[in-house]
Amino acid sequence: MPKLANIILIGDGAIGSSFAFNCLTSGVGQSLGIIDINMQRVQGDVEDLNDALPYAAQKNIYAANYHDCQYADLIVITAGIAQRPGQTRLELLKKNAQIMTDIANQIMASGFHGIILIASNPVDILTELVLRITGLPRNQVLGTGTALDSARLRSEIGQRFNIDARAVHGYILGEHGDSEFPAWDYTTIGGKPIQDWLPAEREEETLDEIANTVKTAAYSIIDKKGATFYGIAASLTRITAAILGDERSAFAMSVHLDGEYGLHDVSIGVPVIIGETGMDRIIELDLNKQDMQRLSDSATILKKNLQEVLD
Ligand code: LAC
Repeated sequence: MPKLANIILIGDGAIGSSFAFNCLTSGVGQSLGIIDINMQRVQGDVEDLNDALPYAAQKNIYAANYHDCQYADLIVITAGIAQRPGQTRLELLKKNAQIMTDIANQIMASGFHGIILIASNPVDILTELVLRITGLPRNQVLGTGTALDSARLRSEIGQRFNIDARAVHGYILGEHGDSEFPAWDYTTIGGKPIQDWLPAEREEETLDEIANTVKTAAYSIIDKKGATFYGIAASLTRITAAILGDERSAFAMSVHLDGEYGLHDVSIGVPVIIGETGMDRIIELDLNKQDMQRLSDSATILKKNLQEVLD
């Protein structure tokens, strides 16, 4: 049995239940406890998910409470209000900061000492908030950050070039939100820089188009179906598998910076190595001047918004 196996999911909405289903069908984790303010829904999901057990690897799925958090290796938080059409992620902050404060306090009261992975928005600011409330070391408090945006980048490039998205590498950095940006200098298709795949006269326009499609992806989906859940649930499942399996895989995620990239006191999306200790290390890309400025501007937005809820 792997060393880490016990997951608690807090927030059983569309994202949470998609994550639970994805973990079940992909054999991620040994046990999954689910907590939500609507415990009737949790009970329904537990019964529904148990019906899939004969088709999946054996797993213990149960309705949990905050006391159960003490035994958890990993707590995944998706709770909170979600974006409505036209709303930015930052507009969710006030309400979700209250919800997250309450959740973080209840988790810590259980004696929990594992890893927390947050997907609720605005994810970077809530990650920083949970880090401060819990007092856990920074390697144990992670936000999904720009992992999903980086997946969207790879998917968009893969579709445009008709190449497997898994052969595309690259990262979106910064806020999971409107100030995010792609680190084009580190974006490759089959090892070859993306710029080399484009005719010089179309390069800038195409890269801008791709960046914009990625940045506005959630708005487009929310306009059409009211919410996003499969993309973020798949990102959560992959990151969970990487943590529980000590994969030492790389993702762009929201982590607290302590001087890396010249930034302090902020959790923001940068590439990190993930394994059984949570964040094993931060990868410091040698960013060009423009990208460094973009990261710094993004950090300023996040800090300012966090300060407003703290005041
Ligand atoms: C999205 C939400 C999870 O980008 O922020 O789909």
